[in-house]
Amino acid sequence: MSELDPDLEMTLDLSLHRQLVAEDAPATEPEPRPAVRLRPLAWADVTRVAALETALFGPSAWTMGMLTEELRGNGRWYVAAEPAVEGAPQPLVGYAGLWFDGDNAHVMTIGVDPAVQRQGVGAIMLRALVERAREIGALSMVLEVAVDNDAAIAMYERAGFVRIGLRKRYYQPEDVDAHTMQLVLQPGPAEGATA
Ligand SMILES: CC(C)(COP(=O)(O)OP(=O)(O)OC[C@H]1O[C@@H](n2cnc3c(N)ncnc32)[C@H](O)[C@@H]1OP(=O)(O)O)[C@@H](O)C(=O)NCCC(=O)NCCS
Repeated sequence: MSELDPDLEMTLDLSLHRQLVAEDAPATEPEPRPAVRLRPLAWADVTRVAALETALFGPSAWTMGMLTEELRGNGRWYVAAEPAVEGAPQPLVGYAGLWFDGDNAHVMTIGVDPAVQRQGVGAIMLRALVERAREIGALSMVLEVAVDNDAAIAMYERAGFVRIGLRKRYYQPEDVDAHTMQLVLQPGPAEGATA
């Protein structure tokens, strides 16, 4: 993506470059979970993310152009998950991002390579988004998820999100409704509290 302004890359320098290893699986689990490392999503990742989008979301996948516009938007914060192995860089296996509107943080997307799904990668990225939302003072996290997306709904519920609404025919061209889900991060004043 050499045509992009290099300054924009700075907006994606998320100050998050740490190794998060999915090692919370119990010792008795037969298959060890893969080690992944989170890092800021870079412009150079857009081609790979667009390919994963197509594999994961079909007709409603974001194109490269849409991804580029999204990443240019204000208040965006995106992470990539890559295999934590030595040697040559590996293709990323997951990506996720949020948009902070000044009050709430919106989960814009989250996707994991089908080859490594159900191994903890999505949960690690979601945890990073929640952590970031707390750091920047978001009151809550909100998202839309297709009503038939059982895997994602289970992941969000496991992270503490609850359903707060239904948006009819939200996903097009699939014509599928969406649940709106929320994770409150900063509870309001306790009921009955006095100043
Ligand atoms: C949703 C998605 C990101 C989950 O990523 P993942 O890495 O497979 O999820 P994890 O392995 O971290 O799972 C975390 C929890 O989510 C739930 N979960 C994940 N996949 C599940 C599935 N297929 N069935 C039921 N529950 C599932 C489980 O509670 C799981 O915890 P557990 O494994 O300890 O039981 C992945 O399935 C994906 O990329 N789906 C396509 C894109 C998508 O729908 N994105 C969400 C848009 S709103």
